[in-house]
Amino acid sequence: MKHGIKLLFLLAIFISGCVNAPTEKAVNNATSPANADPNKKVKIGFAMATVKEERWQRDRDAFEAHCKKMEVECELTFANNSAEKQLSDVDQLLTKGINVLVIAPHDATQAAQMVEKAKAKGVPVISYDRLINSDKIDVYISHQVPVIGKKIAEYALSKVPKGNYVMVYGASTDNNAVIMKKEQLAVLQPAIDKGDIKIVADQFITDWKPEEALKFAENTLTQNADKVDAFVVSNDGMAGGVISALEKRNLKILVTGQDAQLSALQSIAEGKQSMTVYKPIIPLANAAVEAAIKLAKKETLADAKPFMNDTLKKEIPAILLEVQVVDKDNLMTTVIKDGYSKFEDVYKNVPADQRPKQ
Ligand code: BGC
Repeated sequence: MKHGIKLLFLLAIFISGCVNAPTEKAVNNATSPANADPNKKVKIGFAMATVKEERWQRDRDAFEAHCKKMEVECELTFANNSAEKQLSDVDQLLTKGINVLVIAPHDATQAAQMVEKAKAKGVPVISYDRLINSDKIDVYISHQVPVIGKKIAEYALSKVPKGNYVMVYGASTDNNAVIMKKEQLAVLQPAIDKGDIKIVADQFITDWKPEEALKFAENTLTQNADKVDAFVVSNDGMAGGVISALEKRNLKILVTGQDAQLSALQSIAEGKQSMTVYKPIIPLANAAVEAAIKLAKKETLADAKPFMNDTLKKEIPAILLEVQVVDKDNLMTTVIKDGYSKFEDVYKNVPADQRPKQ
């Protein structure tokens, strides 16, 4: 009898062991960080305003490549510079069950309602490259836009300390253009006060359109009888428009830019454009994808620092990457060294005997 009880007891332990073992495994599965929320389950929606400028094509490609590498699903939409289209793109992405939304907004203010919609569904939002006027965004990931504005104006002032300036700002609907304007004017103000420089014309250009910048440059040159000493232009696309206007009149004066797009690098190599600002895109796209994954997993973004949105007068968390001034003296040691553009492409229009040594 005693033996029988002992056997039953052992049997009970054995059975419970058998039953428990898989249950325990299941519990482990559910809680282990690697399996609980694998990247495969993360779906990122990226609503882009445009892919018109070369840089945005790089953003698109780098973003998709990093999603693949991190084994997350991502879906991209392109709004062709229309706030309405971007809103319906966001609606669709949200319907498709994305866990995190990345927006490169066409219109900083209108995009706030996209943030509201995402938030209502519990979807975190990243403001990509361009700052959205909403204090509900989880993070703003961009380059150091204030520094870009500052560096452009400092460059212009160092090369043309006296004279007539024309300011060609980007789209007024884009905080990048607004922030750059503020920083550029802050740099130029002391020289303006001294009477060393005079801003003879300034304009925000709708959607950063090169053709509008060209028209504005032509009108300004006509109105000022060509007496302009510097065009402080906020991106390379518009710089291209300004350069066309100058070439028609055989004028060669200082022209700034931003983006380090190939056409501008070529213009710099040929001496038509004075400088650009190089903003490496792969680190930006990678940072956004990685932050998106963290937000989807409800992890905190330790590297985010407060940034003041001047329009809202509120601070939001931001990750801002460094930028570099590029002119004809450092093409080799910046964009070419980095592999951002190829030597043969940049110096395509420069005679072989005038190219720097490789
Ligand atoms: C970006 C620039 C770009 C411009 C026009 C800005 O918000 O920061 O890199 O050239 O938009 O698309």
